[in-house]
Amino acid sequence: MSELNLVLLGPPGSGKGTQGERLQQDLELPYYATGDILRAAVREGTELGRKAKEYMDRGDLVPDEVIVGVIAERVAGSEAEDGFILDGFPRTTVQAEALDSEVNRLGRALTATIFIDVSDEEVVRRLGGRRTCANGHIFHVEFDPPERAGICDVCGGELVVRDDDKPDVIRNRLERYHAETEPLVAYYDERGLLHRIDGSATPDAVSESIRATLATLRMEEEA
Ligand code: AP5
Repeated sequence: MSELNLVLLGPPGSGKGTQGERLQQDLELPYYATGDILRAAVREGTELGRKAKEYMDRGDLVPDEVIVGVIAERVAGSEAEDGFILDGFPRTTVQAEALDSEVNRLGRALTATIFIDVSDEEVVRRLGGRRTCANGHIFHVEFDPPERAGICDVCGGELVVRDDDKPDVIRNRLERYHAETEPLVAYYDERGLLHRIDGSATPDAVSESIRATLATLRMEEEA
């Protein structure tokens, strides 16, 4: 495929990060996860991190003007010339329109939005058992446990509970998702870009569905 510009869309805990890591390895494309970028900025105490922290702690979205420029810069960078994988962006209609105009400005187009669909009940089960390391590698105590409890299989870092994986914050993140992000399902569907994946299956089965979707897109492009 000439260029692969992908968006991963879905509720918190749907598996965007889990699948994003796998896709990045399969496709060898740059992977930009806004949650990871913002958490790194908070850890490093940068201006971006200072602006984002209070929103993230509450489970609210950070303001559009704080995040749009961060992604526009990466999409326009030379590293992303052959494509990119976005996880967690866009999350509002304003962000989706900003992404469209940046991609258009570059004379390019989005290839597909992969919508990983799971229920609110499943989100709560997943986020309750999630463990992550400082490098953003993701595990689940029951569904995807690390080989040694508390230690990242990939980098050996300590696995911890994310600050925003507390029950009241999870509830707010789900509310924000339904109010502000879910309208993007219709936004991308209207543009013929939406590919819905059943996210309730195992991580391997979800990866297979995404691979099959991308293979179909490749065949359609070649036909
Ligand atoms: P972000 O980090 O993007 O959080 P999120 O969208 O809520 O998504 P998560 O990272 O919680 O979940 P995920 O879908 O990646 O699932 P995962 O693979 O980890 O954003 C955090 C915050 O930053 C936001 O609240 C906001 O404040 C701010 N922010 C970020 N982007 C923004 C933007 N564009 N605009 C404004 N604000 C923004 O999986 C979850 C768990 O389930 C794991 O334990 C995993 O092992 C397990 N799991 C995964 N797949 C499966 C499966 N198929 N079966 C069973 N378990 C599974």
